Amino acid sequence: VSSGFDFAANLFPLSSTTGADGYAPLGNSASTARPNAGPGGGLLERNKTLTYFNGLSLIIGLVIGSGIFSSPSQVNSNVGSPGAALIVWIVSGLLVWTGASSYAELGGSIPLNGGPQVYLAKIFGELSGFLFTWVAVLVLKPGSAAIIAIIMGEYLVRAFAPTNADELSPWVSKGIAMGGVVIVTIMNCISTKMGTKANDILMLLKFVALIGVTITGIVVAITGFSYDGSPNKEWKSDWFTDTSDDLSAWAVALYAGLWAYDGWDNTSYVVGEFINPARDLPRVIHTAMPLVILSYVAGNVVYFLVLPIEDINSSNTVAVAFGHKVFGPIGALVLALVVSASCFGALNSSTFTSSRLIYVAGKEGYIPGFFGRLGVGAASEDLRVRTQQNQGWFSKKARSCFADGEMGLFYTPIFALILNLVLTLAYCVVGEFGTLVTFYGVAGYTFYFMTVLGVIVLRVKEPNLERPYKTWIVTPVVFCCVSLFLLSRAVFAQPLQTVIVIAFVLVGIPVFFLFVRRRKVSAKRFGDISTKPWWKFWQK
Ligand code: ARG
Repeated sequence: VSSGFDFAANLFPLSSTTGADGYAPLGNSASTARPNAGPGGGLLERNKTLTYFNGLSLIIGLVIGSGIFSSPSQVNSNVGSPGAALIVWIVSGLLVWTGASSYAELGGSIPLNGGPQVYLAKIFGELSGFLFTWVAVLVLKPGSAAIIAIIMGEYLVRAFAPTNADELSPWVSKGIAMGGVVIVTIMNCISTKMGTKANDILMLLKFVALIGVTITGIVVAITGFSYDGSPNKEWKSDWFTDTSDDLSAWAVALYAGLWAYDGWDNTSYVVGEFINPARDLPRVIHTAMPLVILSYVAGNVVYFLVLPIEDINSSNTVAVAFGHKVFGPIGALVLALVVSASCFGALNSSTFTSSRLIYVAGKEGYIPGFFGRLGVGAASEDLRVRTQQNQGWFSKKARSCFADGEMGLFYTPIFALILNLVLTLAYCVVGEFGTLVTFYGVAGYTFYFMTVLGVIVLRVKEPNLERPYKTWIVTPVVFCCVSLFLLSRAVFAQPLQTVIVIAFVLVGIPVFFLFVRRRKVSAKRFGDISTKPWWKFWQK
């Protein structure tokens, strides 16, 4: 005897998307249906536009962010010596390269948007796909945004209070970080175009900063120049003295290195939009990864050549110390501003993709359905229809947005953005760089491990599956072994954080069976709930 009103089904509505598209298009100019009756995995994957160079700039722009300007102290202080630190940078680079190659194999055989969400669901069943989304929404996305924001705050503090930055309360930089998160969220609520334009410029800055640091560093190391006339470091022969023999400390250092390389998986989210994924995906990976590894190792060598190791280790803002040593206060100010601008850009694109992930999770029924809603309801729908009919003073500008299949003013996943905002602020409050980086690493590498394990499982389960790109089987095996080592070490190095991550994952399991699965079962019982009158009411 059914009540006719299923709370779970109501809370977690049946999705109208295909589910294949992790980043379903938001707002479809061709659709006049209500906002959250989205067009599914269609638009973006039908209009394949990404080329080799787009992929390259996407991945390099994402990967080079805050890390190379902030992780070095974390790496050095854990492994103890410059030589060991360089080993960590090389090993973590090679590790992400094997991971990215493995992802490219999956991307070639399953050329759909959505990345791990899709691969895991196909290989290990829907629960694992759900758990990935769950952890990504609750931990990975807001956690990484918080780290980037905190680094931005620390660099801005150094820019404007260069002399007494160390005496200031950490809440000043945290406050700036949280302000940045709020600004970026508001920007993304208003319009998406605004942010993407800004990002292109910011990405250039980032390149200039990294290349500039490397070149000036080499010049300084050769000529022995320094701003304040202090003698440069001697070329030390003992690069390996004081190397730590604590495996757990090495693991923590690796997590810090891996943070700087993180984002290597992001092509997998948009595989479906590549014109020729089979050819270009591996090419993108095999160009981008060596380039990033080279520039990071070069950057670190330069830091070591120019700065005393204590200076590198004493803060998260090594680039400022570098700028000061070479060009004095002006150099410090310029580098601080450039790095914080780069972080702001990263924060902005991260907010953009998070809102899409949460939006899709809402539409998939993984979280309450209103997170999969665009705009603030009837008002924004009205706005959209009117702009499409060219009414209203803003219509020209707004129409140009819709024409691209983009959203216009306030026709954005506002609820998803607010959820992301709240979670990100919470991480900013409770965490600081070092702890958050390990926390993020443990959560992230759990799912990277699962996904790459999927490559091996799929080779066994479906030997005849078409694989336009087949990675050398050693790469997924190496990746799995190293990430297993990392995860096992985290238990000893950072027990509390590991327990919290495990708790997040475990809570996801009952949520899946109570809400997500039941929703599907009840859909069978009642028919498509989206045709029920109460459902329509809820959707209004
Ligand atoms: N590697 C980047 C940095 O150094 C972080 C990337 C964050 N991860 C992501 N998927 N957006 O700041």
